[in-house]
Amino acid sequence: MSLKAMLVLRLFWVIEVPGAFSCKKPRRRLPEARAIPSHVKALQAVKLCEQYKPRAGADNQGCAVMKLNLGCGSQVPEGWVNVDYALGARFAKNPLFRLINKPLGLFDMQWNDKIFLHDLTKPFPWANASVEAVYTSHTLEHLSREEGRHFLSECHRVLKPNGIIRVIVPDLKHVVDEYIQGRTKADNVLEELGVLFGVGSSPLKKRLAPFVQFPHKCMYDTPRLLEILDETGFVASSKGAFDSGIPDIRSIEFESRTEHAVVVEGRKR
Ligand SMILES: C[S@@+](CC[C@H](N)C(=O)[O-])C[C@H]1O[C@@H](n2cnc3c(N)ncnc32)[C@H](O)[C@@H]1O
Repeated sequence: MSLKAMLVLRLFWVIEVPGAFSCKKPRRRLPEARAIPSHVKALQAVKLCEQYKPRAGADNQGCAVMKLNLGCGSQVPEGWVNVDYALGARFAKNPLFRLINKPLGLFDMQWNDKIFLHDLTKPFPWANASVEAVYTSHTLEHLSREEGRHFLSECHRVLKPNGIIRVIVPDLKHVVDEYIQGRTKADNVLEELGVLFGVGSSPLKKRLAPFVQFPHKCMYDTPRLLEILDETGFVASSKGAFDSGIPDIRSIEFESRTEHAVVVEGRKR
């Protein structure tokens, strides 16, 4: 293994693995813990989120009103609490990594160190009815169906009554239409769906792919996403680019991200 790869894996170990620096022997997981089926875990998560756990910094981060940009990536507009959990976003917080990354060029860092770190599959650290608007672009499809439902119910919980949720995801119908009309060849369909890991990457990036890449885990079309939003407690409709009740929508939306995409917006009932 090259020196670069060893350094990256060591750093990942220190940042990622709880207790990596600790002398205590890690406690072994009980066999029963591994056997919990996913639907039971989802129910447990829903129970957990009934009592949200506020976390340091889980406030409006200096913004006049609380607006969340969930799964922000490199899109970190002013006036929004920009949330992500990618390895790059976590590395960006680490001064030691920033120091050694510069000369070694391990990652082409595009991550803002102001990103609020939170794993969106977990209960949100914000209080009930504390948020004016949620914007989430090309992120829901990276969560499994169950995680996605939990994520939307958390959005509903933290939004104020009549608060706005705007969700953008790739349109499954577009991918299928392109295939049926012969514009996508059969052996390219999985790539178009975005469900593969590490395609065309360097060997190092291939090894790190499970940690730095987020394949799509669930796909949506407009009718189904509207139905799910309705079931979650929103009154929602299909929208075009910039057609929104969010006053500063142009500070956060890129027209290119709305092309061949499902764009829906709802208000909390
Ligand atoms: C395709 S990018 C979208 C970035 C940006 N919103 C846009 O539209 O270009 C998906 C983002 O979701 C983030 N993401 C995926 N799963 C996540 C999770 N469980 N918790 C927090 N962020 C997550 C990824 O790190 C990534 O930045």
